[in-house]
This record gives sequence, C-alpha cells and structure tokens, in this order.
Amino acid sequence: MTEKVKSLIEKLNAEHSLTLAEYRELIESSSEEAAALLAEYAVKVRKKIYGNAVFVRGLIEIGNVCKNDCLYCGIRRSNRTVKRYRLTREQILECADEGYLLGFRTFVLQGGEDAYFSDETMCGIIRDIKKRYPDCAVTLSLGERSFDSYRALKKAGADRYLLRHETADKAHYEKLHPPKMSFDNRMKCLVELRELGYRVGCGFMVGSPFQTSETLAEDLKFIESFKPDMCGIGPFIPHRETPFRDELSGTLEQTCYLLSIIRLIYPPVLLPSTTALGTIHPQGRECGILSGANVVMPNLSPVSVRKKYELYDNKICTGEESAQCLDCLNARMNSIGYETVVDIGDIRKENYNG
Ligand code: 5AD
Ligand code: FES
Repeated sequence: MTEKVKSLIEKLNAEHSLTLAEYRELIESSSEEAAALLAEYAVKVRKKIYGNAVFVRGLIEIGNVCKNDCLYCGIRRSNRTVKRYRLTREQILECADEGYLLGFRTFVLQGGEDAYFSDETMCGIIRDIKKRYPDCAVTLSLGERSFDSYRALKKAGADRYLLRHETADKAHYEKLHPPKMSFDNRMKCLVELRELGYRVGCGFMVGSPFQTSETLAEDLKFIESFKPDMCGIGPFIPHRETPFRDELSGTLEQTCYLLSIIRLIYPPVLLPSTTALGTIHPQGRECGILSGANVVMPNLSPVSVRKKYELYDNKICTGEESAQCLDCLNARMNSIGYETVVDIGDIRKENYNG
C-alpha cells in the first residue's frame, strides 16, 4: 500500500468523504493491505454503533413475474424457461407466521414488477401483517411504482423500501437495462420514497458488466450524498438464460472492499452481507460481516418456490427450510464472534454525529 492510499483511507475514516477522483484512486489501488486497513476501521466504527449485533430480516419472495427485462436478471421477462409463480395472500401470511415464531421482527416482501400485486392487493397484505404483528417492520422491494402507489403502501403500514439504484452512472445504467427503463425514473423513485417517510435502501451489484472504477466512484459519491438507511451490495453473478451469461462474476475481494468503504462513508448505514456473496464463496457472508456489514437476510419463502426465484445461477439456500437457514446463519455469525438479533433493528443515526 502506498502512502497515498494510506492517506486516502485515513481521510475517509476521519471525514467520511472523498472526492470522485479520490474514490476512483482508492478503488484502482486496492490491495490486501488496503483492504485490511479499511476493514479494521469499518469494523471499529460499526462496533461503536451496533456492538457485535447482526440484524436478521426475513425475506419473502412473493412472486417472480416481472414486466421488466433487465439484462442481468434471471427472472427477466424474456426468460421463457422460468416457472412463474405468485404467492397468495394466505401463503404470504403463513410465511410471516412461521417467521414470527422463529423470532423475526422484520419481513421483506420482494418480487418482480407485476401488476397482479396492485396497490389494493399489496395494501391488504401489508395491513394483514401489521394487524397480526404490530411489533414488526414491513419492508417492500417491489421495484419502481408511482408516487401515489408508494404513498398508498406507506399508508397501509409499510415502513421501509429497498430499491437498488443499480449504478449511479446513466450511461452504465443504459447498458444494463433495455431502452424502456429509465435511470432518471429510478432515481426519482428513491427521492419520492424518502419524501414519503420510508426508510430507504439503495444499492448496486459489484462487478456488473461495463462497470469501471469511474462508475463505482459515482456510486460511492451518490451514497455519500443520499445517505441511504440501507445499502444492498453483492457480486454480480451471471445467469445462464440472460444476455450476460458469459460474463464473469464479481469478486469476494472487491465486494468486501466496497462494503468497508461504504461503512466508512456513512457509519450508521444498514449493510447486508448478501446471499449473492454467500453464493460466490462458502464463507462469503462471514467475510462481509468482517468487512463492516451488519445485516443478514435469510430466506422465509416456501421451499416449493425457492428455486424459481433465481436471479442468478447457483443461488444458495434454495433447498432449506426457514428454520434451517436461521440456524445456519446463527452458527455462522457465532463462529466469527457475532450475535444475530431478530428485533426490528432500526438504523441508529443517534449514535453517529458526523
Ligand atoms: N447477480 C447478482 N445480483 C443480481 N440482481 C439481479 N440479478 C442479479 C445477478 N445476476 C440484484 C439486483 C436487484 C436485486 C433484487 O438483485 O441488484 O436489484
Ligand atoms: Fe440458508 Fe445457510 S443460510 S442454509
């Protein structure tokens, strides 16, 4: 590690901000040594805010029907080989029941962009969950919707919304998505969600096709200014039935390097160690936590649909029961000296004065 890189890391740790050019340089001059120093600072500041707690969120994949055709995604509309499914309201509630008994206090309802899950349908489901479990947070991850729709869902009781920005570079965005999709609309959605009072999550894939140190620097600058409550990042992994089938996966090293940087940019951020990270390496999720992540999202979907929600090849946890996933994650976190916590797990901005 050069003196220059060391000084960039020191500056990031002290000021939580770098220029675009500095982010770019930090990304381009990554090394084992730089990664170790970033992780050390990231873990230190996360410990100060969250101790050794790792928050657990129950992920319910409510359907894989999607009107979009994102080039990287296994459930894109053009993939005719996918067996499409939609969970019924009853099935979703059963997942929540099971999760509640296992101790989960946050449910993430994730699915493709599907008109079947209209405002009326979604509001009914959200109200049901909140009525039954008023002590739980409901997080939605249902893609781009209108302001009015986001407002209705909020009013029905939704607390949080995850919508990865995917890349903060418009030209890059257009290489990952068909012409019908718009970078500006995606960014607008994030702003509207925040305006409506949601806790908001953004994020991007590491190693997606056409990504450069330049586009990554823009992602980091965006995160610095937007200050998301959550930031989901995981490696890109090719899916055999997409145009990106022959591309390379993102790496464990680069994902962990970026996790540490994001922790230092905005210390209170909720940072998941993702299933995709666990898919590219057997200890991927442990490495993510040791780099500064503090959230894991075990799968609560019915085992019968898990293989069908395949965004990328070889996704893990598709054969396990929910309880098995929870036990497995508990053991994994304990093995590295962390405790899983199933409570609501809100962002702790109050412990951070920056
Ligand atoms: N590899 C990794 N992550 C993917 N996602 C979609 N397709 C892939 C893939 N092939 C991510 C996107 C999306 C989130 C739900 O999953 O970032 O926002
Ligand atoms: Fe699902 Fe390990 S977390 S099996």
